[in-house]
This record gives sequence, structure tokens and C-alpha cells, in this order.
Amino acid sequence: MELKGKRIALGVTGGIAAYKAAELVRLLVKQGASVQVAMTEAATHFVTPTTFQALSGNRVFTDQWDSGVANSMAHIQLSRDADVLLIAPASADFLAKAANGIADNLLTTLTLARDCPLLVAPAMNRQMWTNPATQRNMATLLGDNVTVLGPASGEQACGEIGDGRMLEPEEILAEVIAHFQPKLLKGRSVLMTAGPTFEAIDPVRGITNLSSGKMGFAIARAAREAGANVTLVCGPVSQPTPRGITRIDVTSALEMHAEVLKRAANQDVFIGVAAVADYRPKIVAGQKTKKDGAPPPVIELVQNPDILADVAALPQPPLCVGFAAETQNLAEYAEKKRRAKKIPLIVGNLIQDGFGGDDNTLILFDDGGQQPLTPAPKLELARQLTARIAFLLENPNAPH
Ligand code: PMT
Repeated sequence: MELKGKRIALGVTGGIAAYKAAELVRLLVKQGASVQVAMTEAATHFVTPTTFQALSGNRVFTDQWDSGVANSMAHIQLSRDADVLLIAPASADFLAKAANGIADNLLTTLTLARDCPLLVAPAMNRQMWTNPATQRNMATLLGDNVTVLGPASGEQACGEIGDGRMLEPEEILAEVIAHFQPKLLKGRSVLMTAGPTFEAIDPVRGITNLSSGKMGFAIARAAREAGANVTLVCGPVSQPTPRGITRIDVTSALEMHAEVLKRAANQDVFIGVAAVADYRPKIVAGQKTKKDGAPPPVIELVQNPDILADVAALPQPPLCVGFAAETQNLAEYAEKKRRAKKIPLIVGNLIQDGFGGDDNTLILFDDGGQQPLTPAPKLELARQLTARIAFLLENPNAPH
């Protein structure tokens, strides 16, 4: 229930993506939001108001001159009641009017009369999107602090391929949730690692571990929600990339080390969430190793560089945060790692809670001692960790 108590005015304009707005309403309501839909006349040709009424549980507004609304002032009432005005899909026509302060129907009027932030999810043909007029309008809207969600690129209803697809309802939902998070890391840069590494033995085998990347991706999302510019270097995982994050895929610890060290000097924060293999095979066989009745091969290992320790040893290191997953003696081992790597904060988790699952149990260790966090979904814990990091950035000399 990430949107519990939030009031969202959803404007639907005319376009084939209007059918996706129905799913969006369902998702918003499922997250606890109260959704009030207003449609343009054109939108009603694609989806009926009855659909939105059924999904939102609220009356749908389509007419500026609706005599059923107090003083016929539907536009004022809608903008007074909302925490956010979201237009999805936002047509080229709507965006042009919004950019120029035109108020000639219910939706454009309530946009102009609003007393809350405006989020728009453009949806149109690629030529309309790239048309200089539309791009001028988008620049105006961005300059007016309107949040623009998308558009995505891909196949369009007209059969063409290019920019202009509306974001998927799940993506818009994530952006609405992000909108309500405090911007504790606004303007900060965060570099992170996540997932496992894979150390090749031969072309088809290797040494790896069970990290799914979920914890790291949750932190990346939370940091971006908090306003940070996030770069995520990740090992082989199948997690979808949260929107707005720069993702760099690597396989081995050596690759991860190289990609991180290339970027670390200019960052405000580095968070090592990856379960990096401590060792790699000294020799990687060029061909698949065969049994052929020979005795089992002995694989000689060499140590991988320690990414976190190397970042912490930079002349002007970012604020470094490590993770420690342990099967036993969590406090002792986590604290030992924190001191060995010379980092201010390490996050410990017992392995049975950490790898693969959606929930986790974390304990923060710093100079001030330990602070257990209540077991929770990884995203919730990621937000708490983000808040802690923001505090440390703002108060570098505070007793931790
Ligand atoms: O991905 P999930 O399934 O959600 O699981 C999340 C997790 C359990 C993998 C994650 O929460 C976690 O605990 N990651 C750290 C695992 C660990 O214990 O790593 P470590 O003890 O090997 O390393 C300690 C710290 O040094 C970590 O921040 C690690 O990223 C870093 N390190 C380690 C070795 C190395 N060569 N370079 C490093 O940077």
C-alpha cells in the first residue's frame, strides 16, 4: 500500500494508449490511492467512462459544464482535492495546450487551475513526438517543473517504430510512488554494485553464488526515488532495470572492479551490495574441460581485487557503504570487515534472510555501534538505508 491516503487526479486524453490507463487505475487503487478520473471527449472514444468508474470506484468527469458538480466548478474541485495531477496518456494536443496555458476543456482547465504537481506520460506517434513544436512544448513544461514520464521507444499502434509509446502502467505506478518519496539525495551521485560475479573455469562453467540482485536493485531504486543520479554495476542477474538508472552489466569481479574504479572518484556515495567472488580460477580453459577418464582436475584459485577497499582507499573517496552476509557471528564478522576495508558503514545480514528473497533483516554497523532495522521488504529497507546515507552525507562529523 505504497500510496495509502494519496489522492490522485488522473487525466486521460484521446489516444490508443487510453486503454492502458484502465490498468493504471487498477494498480494505483491497489496501492491504496484514491483515484479521480477526468477524461477528454476524445478519450471517451477509446475507453468508456464506465470502465474508469468501475475501476476507481469514483464518478468520472468528462464535462466542464457538469451541472451535477457544486457551482459547475469541476475543474477547481478536482485540483483542490488532489495530491498530484497525472495525465496518462498525454496527447501532443494536450501537452501543447498545457505548455501554453490554454484552458478550453475540463482537463486543460483543471491543469491550469491546479494546486498540485503535474506528471505527464506522453503518448503519440514518433513523428509527432520528434516534431520541433512538441519538443518546444516539452521544454516549456520541463521549465515549468512538470515531471515528464517517458515516453518509451518501440512499436507503435500505427505500425511505426520509435519514441512516443506511453510507459507501461507498472512503470508509471513506480514513478508516482517515487514522486512521493522525500528527495533526501537530490543532486547526489551514487555508484553501486549488485548481484553475484561469475568467475569462469572454462567456456561453460564457473564459480558464482546465489545473489539475485534484488537487494542492490532495491537500493538503486530507493536512491533514485530520493533524487540521486544512480549508476549500478551489476553481475549476471535477471532483474529489470528500474527507470532512470544507468546500468552497467559485467560478469567477473575483475570487470566489476574496472567499471567501478573508472567512475568512483567523482561520486558522492559508493555502495557495495554485490556478492563478489573472493577468488577466481588462475587459468581459464580455452575449451570445455573433458572427463575422459582422467583424475578430477585441480583448480588453482587466485584472489580477486577488493573493489570496496580500493574505492575506500582513493585519495578523496566517496562515502563508502559495504554489505556483509554471514551465516554466523554477524556482528563480529561485519565489524571486522568494516575496519579492514576502512569504511564508515557496513550493513550486515544473516544469509538465510538475504539471498534471493523479497524480504530481508539488516543491521547497520558504524562507529556508534549497531542499529537493527525491523525485518521488511527489501525496498522498504533500501529506503531506510538511503535515509541513513543521506544523514551521513549531511552530517559527516556526527557521532554515527
Ligand atoms: O542479491 P540478493 O539475493 O538480494 O542478496 C543480497 C546479498 C545477500 C548478496 C547482499 O545483501 C549482501 O549481503 N552482499 C554482500 C555479500 C558479502 O558478504 O560480501 P563479502 O563479505 O564478500 O564482502 C563484503 C563487502 O565487500 C561487500 O560490500 C562486497 O560487495 C565487497 N567486496 C567483497 C569482495 C570483493 N572482492 N570486492 C568487494 O567490493
